[in-house]
Amino acid sequence: METTSVDTNRLHSGSLYKRPPGTHNATLTEVGQGTPMGELLRRYWQPVALARDATTTPKLIRALGEELILFRDKSGRPGLVHPRCAHRGTSLYYGKVEERGIRCCYHGWLFDVEGHCVEQPCEPGGGAHRDKVRQPWYPVRDAYDLVFAYMGPPEKMPVLPRVDALEGAGPDQKILGEQKAFASGGPAIADCNWLQYFENALDTFHVAVLHSNFSGLQFIPEMAVMPEVKWSLTAGGVKATQHRQLDDGKLFLRVTEVLSPNVRSVPDAFGKKGPVDRIEWTLPVDDTHFTTFTAGVVAKDATVIRERRVLHNGKLWEDMTEEERRLFPDDREAQVGQGPITLHSDEHLATSDQGLVMFRRLLQRQLATVAEGKDPLGVWFNEAEAVIRLEAGNFFDAQL
Ligand code: FES
Ligand SMILES: [Fe+2]
Repeated sequence: METTSVDTNRLHSGSLYKRPPGTHNATLTEVGQGTPMGELLRRYWQPVALARDATTTPKLIRALGEELILFRDKSGRPGLVHPRCAHRGTSLYYGKVEERGIRCCYHGWLFDVEGHCVEQPCEPGGGAHRDKVRQPWYPVRDAYDLVFAYMGPPEKMPVLPRVDALEGAGPDQKILGEQKAFASGGPAIADCNWLQYFENALDTFHVAVLHSNFSGLQFIPEMAVMPEVKWSLTAGGVKATQHRQLDDGKLFLRVTEVLSPNVRSVPDAFGKKGPVDRIEWTLPVDDTHFTTFTAGVVAKDATVIRERRVLHNGKLWEDMTEEERRLFPDDREAQVGQGPITLHSDEHLATSDQGLVMFRRLLQRQLATVAEGKDPLGVWFNEAEAVIRLEAGNFFDAQL
């Protein structure tokens, strides 16, 4: 008689022996052209660089698994093109930027910021047929001290939205763009999938463990107690609302928000009051790397949106030893520690993960919407409607 007792014993014992290999949810995490999430992300304007990184020196950048050359022509227009020259394929990384575009180093073909070939110096008459050549390109725009690119289907290009949280800059203030991976320093491109970082904004409970015990107490003491949290759907995403009664009887409300598919708004963790005045995009560099771009309202003379969060003994991540990182882990250790792409098959989601689950389901619905040929949430085609509205912030003495 056949028996299944061996398998059953193995499952119940929890032994690692002959454990099946884990798998990740490719639909939610992979970002290349033609993948479901890659196509969803390509329906939005995505920040791909800081405004100050688009210069007359060609820069090789990576976004959504694609390598691209970013430049700014000498009349000030940003351009983003495929690295391989349309003539015979050498890299435009070695090109020279001029008034009207970027000139390839090999035979001098000159391409403008929309890929039009405007000069072919080796061809008779400067290139009678140059209008038959187009360097593959993406539309780019300067906004909020960042450079945004639209990498999706041309016929579906939406309006670049305004951000309500950034509209209130006073005369002594400005909008500043910033690129980083984690708030405590370290490389601006992190070695893990974008989603495990991104969904952490809804992981309210890790603050009372990771950031209050393991890292050392990093924020105001109110953040170190287990929060009361309610997750709910918003017009464009999911928000986590924490509320607690303070000692003076006032009510403290902290609202963290994510908008589909990759916008985060996490309020100041040191108790700065009021609605958020910054917004962050998580940009998947490829399937196993991400970076973030933030735009925030700051004082006119500021050079950072906020100081780096310090870790053990007042150190930044890059100044810590490996042993200190092991003893006092922070977000980078916890999230890169989940692996290049976390193994969703091996997760045991629990009550504290409700926000993540709600958001993953919302993403699945957005993927289905795009697959049906419809427009996902937060994509607008007329200027008046195209506004990203945020609900996040720290609200004291607020009414529930
Ligand atoms: S390869 Fe670029 S001009 Fe010839
Ligand atoms: Fe964190």
